[in-house]
Amino acid sequence: MSVYNGILVAADGSDPSKRAVERAARLAAHEETPLYILNVIRDMQFPESLKRMAEVERLVGSRSDLLHYVADKILGDAEKGARKQKAKTIHTRTAEGDPATRIVEQADADKADLIVIGTRGLGGVAGALLGSVSRKVSNLADQDVLIVR
Ligand SMILES: Nc1ncnc2c1ncn2[C@@H]1O[C@H](COP(=O)(O)OP(=O)(O)OP(=O)(O)O)[C@@H](O)[C@H]1O
Ligand SMILES: [Mg+2]
Repeated sequence: MSVYNGILVAADGSDPSKRAVERAARLAAHEETPLYILNVIRDMQFPESLKRMAEVERLVGSRSDLLHYVADKILGDAEKGARKQKAKTIHTRTAEGDPATRIVEQADADKADLIVIGTRGLGGVAGALLGSVSRKVSNLADQDVLIVR
């Protein structure tokens, strides 16, 4: 019997979040439990490489198109990474607003009882050990929280 009913991993396209996705996917595969991958859309918080790709593909229509395009890219990459770890049941999600609040709300909505996040994300204030989203999620969540180092 699996320990968790569902695992939600928060993906922002950063390297730490990629490690979180990998870990979450391996757990999901091992536990045979559904994996939910969530990206919370936030203005101007996405990887430079993906920003450039969007420009190259001339998808810079409305601002909201660009933000959704990048979110879809992040989720597509994360899903691919998760499949490599043999996770079988994968659902991708997008939300908008405060990342930590949305992450916890989505875990509630999907009845995921483990939340997996990276220590840091795209922000990266030098010196800080934990990002503000990681800190806030671990404060807010009723679920278990796994912070991947
Ligand atoms: N917009 C987001 N959507 C989904 N997950 C996110 C988002 N932002 C952060 N996360 C999750 O939280 C983890 C920690 O990121 P966090 O944002 O706390 O660190 P940071 O960007 O380095 O610092 P800060 O945002 O405080 O400047 C990420 O690895 C990712 O798992
Ligand atoms: Mg951040």
